[in-house]
Amino acid sequence: MENEIGRLRVEGLDLIVHAADENALEQVRVKLLGRKGEVTRLLRGLKEAAPDERPRLGALLNELKQVLAEALQERAESLVAAAPRVKAAYDLTLPGVPKASLGAPHPLISVLEEICDIFYGMGFTRSEGPDVELDYYNFTALNFPADHPARDIQDTFYINDKVCLRTQTSPVQIRTMEVTKPPLASIFPGRVYRNESTDASHLPEFFQIEGLCVDRAISLADLRDTVVQFVQAFFGGKRQVRFRPHYFPFTEPSVEVDMVCFGCKGDGCHICQQTGWLEIMGAGMVHPNVFQFAGYEPDAYTGFAFGMGIDRIAMLRYGITDIRLLYENDLRFLSQFRGVF
Ligand code: PHE
Repeated sequence: MENEIGRLRVEGLDLIVHAADENALEQVRVKLLGRKGEVTRLLRGLKEAAPDERPRLGALLNELKQVLAEALQERAESLVAAAPRVKAAYDLTLPGVPKASLGAPHPLISVLEEICDIFYGMGFTRSEGPDVELDYYNFTALNFPADHPARDIQDTFYINDKVCLRTQTSPVQIRTMEVTKPPLASIFPGRVYRNESTDASHLPEFFQIEGLCVDRAISLADLRDTVVQFVQAFFGGKRQVRFRPHYFPFTEPSVEVDMVCFGCKGDGCHICQQTGWLEIMGAGMVHPNVFQFAGYEPDAYTGFAFGMGIDRIAMLRYGITDIRLLYENDLRFLSQFRGVF
């Protein structure tokens, strides 16, 4: 009898701690302490034991009963403690998790990629240069005279004597020519920085896309065709384009390119400030000095280059009147461009 009490203690405790849930635990309780359970069976068997052994065995049995009852109680509590966490995952009274909203490319990025796609279609490749640029690439190699006003600390964020934040994407022209044999046709999108005060059409940081095409007989007519192709692909329809003479140190001749205003088709309206034309880029034929700096033979090659402000193009495309909207990341503004890309 004593052995059986010992065995039941070990086996009973084992069953209790391994009961997986409340139902299983109840079955264990019935098996051990129920009216037809093991402990009851032993208690009934007491009367068969020798009379002088009975008190001791009875005490042992009572202790077993108590130990098992306590273990059952403890196990029941730990099952209850674990249960609420499981239940919480299915608490139907909790407010629902908001549906994840789909993101979308920023309108500037969609416009940038769309412009690139148009140029890929004309055989241009793409590369990028650093935002933190050597003064040499940003100015010197682009034929800026040493005393040119654009080098002035007013316009350029200098990091030290030789290093600045690039004010234009044109330095990527030089970097690309340095590592590419002609002929070449490539575009260079990226951020540029100018020390300007902020207003509806100016920010100290904006995007440009540069184009460069070099071969043995590239002419101004090639530039014109390329620009017309781009304008028609991007803005749609047959759009007139005009070149106005201009000055850039790194192109000769230099032009500013206008397209007919899409608001008024040339009659004059608020979009074009009554001029009928919208300026879209600066451009020109690569200056021989630039070829010299980049290591191309100036007598053997000609090329055209252009540079346009992506922010400005995006503003024209979507009728955005304040450039700051493009950088404030107000979701009420941005969500209007969902799916544009
Ligand atoms: N880099 C010029 C600017 O920022 C634009 C330009 C690029 C003009 C290439 C001519 C050729 O204004």
